[in-house]
Amino acid sequence: MRVPAKLNLQLAVGPPRGDGYHDLVTVFHAVSLFDEVTVAPAGRDGVTVGGEGADRVPAGPDNLALRAVTALRRALAGRAAAAGRVHVTIAKRIPVAAGLAGGSADAAAALVACNELWRAGVGQQQLVDVAARVGSDVAFALLGGTAVGRGRGERLTQALAPSTQYHWVLAFADGQLSTPEVYAALDRLRAADGTAAGASGGSRSPGRPRAPGDEPALDAALMSALRSGDARQVGRALSNDLQPAALSLFPALRKTLAAGLELGALGALVSGSGPTCVFLAASASRALDLAVSLSGAGVCRSVARATGPAPGAAVVPSAEAGRPR
Ligand code: C5P
Repeated sequence: MRVPAKLNLQLAVGPPRGDGYHDLVTVFHAVSLFDEVTVAPAGRDGVTVGGEGADRVPAGPDNLALRAVTALRRALAGRAAAAGRVHVTIAKRIPVAAGLAGGSADAAAALVACNELWRAGVGQQQLVDVAARVGSDVAFALLGGTAVGRGRGERLTQALAPSTQYHWVLAFADGQLSTPEVYAALDRLRAADGTAAGASGGSRSPGRPRAPGDEPALDAALMSALRSGDARQVGRALSNDLQPAALSLFPALRKTLAAGLELGALGALVSGSGPTCVFLAASASRALDLAVSLSGAGVCRSVARATGPAPGAAVVPSAEAGRPR
């Protein structure tokens, strides 16, 4: 399987819910930075992780891909006679705990792979339901493309967008952020300044901070920019309510964002809960220039380029697997 990283072009976060989660309105966007996941029959369930940041991925039952395997087996409840034990092998290119939903991607890939391997015939909607139970971002990794997420992020509507390819530069940070800690920091910031939103991060000037209790809403300017396929407008409309929280925990990211904007990015923001910073470029060649300059500026650990939207979790012919993208 090949499965993409995701960015959030908008991430609007509501107040904390009773179950510890936050209601969201988000615009997910899959990009061409892929993990590769292989599932094979085995004597018992297990996982091997290699590649980028592999030593920081749990290799036991806590591994999100293994949890996905267990969740699918349970959903089948004996329907698939051959829902046997499997070994999952993950080749990571998506950095770990980077705000790019790499763990969720691996879980989505494991779901699709087991569905194939077991010939279980689970339809897309039931797979999405199982994915949503495994994690908030797993359902989107099945779908890919560009989609609006609501609820915890798991209720998805594919965004009808023209075939525009966007050119992104990703600046990987020297460090990690924990998603629950970033959400908790946002709650603290909001409690301190008395608003539900604080100032939304992103490249445009934030609108009115939301009042406590306000529901997060889809950004009409971003949706219209995506419909028109105008990268300049998309760049201006990027926003992320988690950004001030991520910056409060990882202040060095301010420099990274500022450097990318000074170097001509159309827009810049922290990806999800961070600490990866993402920059939109006007073309493939601008993205290359930006990537080279950002690497030289010493404001991040490493830099990658990616295009979006990318397809969701998909089987790749084995001849193509492992080929650099
Ligand atoms: O669903 P997932 O396990 O990916 O979420 C990780 C953590 O992120 C949650 O435990 C929660 O602290 C936070 N989160 C949240 N609201 C969401 C999604 C995630 O508070 N909508």
